[in-house]
Amino acid sequence: MYPRTAAAFARANIAFIKYWGDLDPCWRVPANGSISMNLAGLSTRTRVTFDPLLGRDTLLLDGEPASAAALERVSAFLDRVRQLAGRQEFAAVESANNFPMGAGLASSAAAFAALSLAASAAAGLSLAEKDLSRLARAGSGSACRSVPGGFVEWQAGAGDEDSYAYSIAPAGHWDLVDCVAVISQEHKRVGSTEGHALAASSPIQAARVADAPRRLNMCRAAICERNFAAFAEVVEQDCNLMHAVMMTSSSRLIYWQPATLAVMAAVQSWRQAGLEVCYTIDAGPNVHVLCRSAGVETLRAGLGALPGVQMVLVAGPGGAAALEQDV
Ligand code: PMV
Repeated sequence: MYPRTAAAFARANIAFIKYWGDLDPCWRVPANGSISMNLAGLSTRTRVTFDPLLGRDTLLLDGEPASAAALERVSAFLDRVRQLAGRQEFAAVESANNFPMGAGLASSAAAFAALSLAASAAAGLSLAEKDLSRLARAGSGSACRSVPGGFVEWQAGAGDEDSYAYSIAPAGHWDLVDCVAVISQEHKRVGSTEGHALAASSPIQAARVADAPRRLNMCRAAICERNFAAFAEVVEQDCNLMHAVMMTSSSRLIYWQPATLAVMAAVQSWRQAGLEVCYTIDAGPNVHVLCRSAGVETLRAGLGALPGVQMVLVAGPGGAAALEQDV
């Protein structure tokens, strides 16, 4: 029956142990495993309609026609879905974020997780969580972590078959909160796909990857035991290691700005003063400051008072990607 339509939503996620560099860039199989938390309230909603009357795929982002590059990436992704489902029809895709696009949050993770679910359902597939996570990974690596709920681990695997994410604890397990100190809303100059390709050119990357199992074990245990001190230590070390690789790759990537360093220093002094707080930073200048729910108001006020911090977004642990029933 046509047109076939489905809508789904998925949350952004923040990595505590980072993905940086690929074993297989074509399938986005990572050089190391990673651990993240889905972010409640920061989500993407996507509707996909397969329609035999369409002459090509179309893409609307927040109501506006997407760029040619974005459409090409989504179309290549839909080809995988068509191949899996044995279908040929083109699709109309509409996607909207409920968080500011320029806030430096990885919108591609929520976007490709929602697209995987909506497109596979609209194509008549009913994929298990593991296979949905594998599909999302092919669109944007970190998107595989926005498929399961709560606290999530992406096992690196050796290839497409065994590289996927699963939940290690539900959203209600721990009252961690991500307070994002937004320093710049500019679009990043070097995107993550290009960045992953540069990772192996850093002499530090091999050591970072070799040590990843230790950091993954520490982080997983800290989450399971709700041990903030151990969590803070490994999360900041992992973030600094990734940025050390970025800064020392053949085309050097320095994402930090003076205000980024000011937030990092403030976080350290607040922790020394007894607040349970630590930072992590993705491929941009904004700082994700992690705390427990009791510390949110103190932290929000402290971050907001620092020079260079434009706004603070607050998000606790979020659930899994889900289909919308009302379509
Ligand atoms: O999924 P990608 O290709 O956008 O890469 C994500 C890279 C980082 O956000 C820097 C780290 C991570 O694990 O999310």
